[in-house]
Amino acid sequence: MTDETNAAQRQFWNSDFGAKWVAFEADLETLHAPMNDPLLTCAAIELGMNVLDVGCGSGAVTRRAAEWVGVDGSVTGVDISEVLLDKARATAAGEGSASVDYLHADAQTYAFAPASFDRVVSRMGVMFFADPTAAFTNLLRAVRPGGYLSAVVWRRGEANPWFRIPTEAAIRHLGPIDSDPDAPGPLAFANTDRALAILMAAGWMDASASPLEVILETRGPATEAAASIGSMGPAARIMDLKGATKTQLTAIKADIAAGFRRFETEHGLRVPVTMTLLSARAPV
Ligand SMILES: C[S@@+](CC[C@H](N)C(=O)[O-])C[C@H]1O[C@@H](n2cnc3c(N)ncnc32)[C@H](O)[C@@H]1O
Repeated sequence: MTDETNAAQRQFWNSDFGAKWVAFEADLETLHAPMNDPLLTCAAIELGMNVLDVGCGSGAVTRRAAEWVGVDGSVTGVDISEVLLDKARATAAGEGSASVDYLHADAQTYAFAPASFDRVVSRMGVMFFADPTAAFTNLLRAVRPGGYLSAVVWRRGEANPWFRIPTEAAIRHLGPIDSDPDAPGPLAFANTDRALAILMAAGWMDASASPLEVILETRGPATEAAASIGSMGPAARIMDLKGATKTQLTAIKADIAAGFRRFETEHGLRVPVTMTLLSARAPV
């Protein structure tokens, strides 16, 4: 991949951040696993289908989809991060699963074989496109007429304490950030109307959004979660941007831990979050 499209995201997901994602993969997988089956159910995945997993990362959903479609199906995971794809390739899919391929490519621009997939799915992998309308137009070309797209995306505010608590802690200590709420990033589709308008502008039909309530679970006390959230989550991006000092970092992590303490149980944190499940259909 040499073109400049999505260069910033490519750089980001191939940087130390991608390496951190790999290092924390087991914990992240526990955290995000509750989204998997609702996503595949929403996409009406059936035995024998060919599925594309967009922004597949280390491949958890790719492997789960491979179990759902079985040996007569196939699943392709596409991602711009070689670091994450290396991790995906190193993890075998379960017994009785479809064959799995991983493609190092930009899903916004890659020339997929036209109409080659029955379904396009994504768990938090479609919010990073510089030109989302172009990306969803490209994905529409890849899916067969009448095929479905389903994607899980983050919400903002009260629905999402997982992002709200660290973001507010970082802003409390470092001041507000001047950023475009729709810019490529995890919250780019927090505005559901915007997401649906983009899907329709790209030519998808019957675009709809429904709430997906999940409990995000981590091991250990709030202080432990605060340490990893503080080094990887939304607060980390703000601290990076603002050049936070060590003292500020410590204070922010303490505030994050305090914010999450109400979600502590004897088994770790259990944080209720409402995600959005986007779905749409390719015209026949
Ligand atoms: C939040 S992670 C989600 C990863 C995975 N779907 C999961 O749930 O664990 C977002 C992923 O999207 C990928 N990504 C971002 N922009 C992309 C693009 N233009 N084409 C393909 N993948 C992209 C990143 O490299 C990253 O792996």
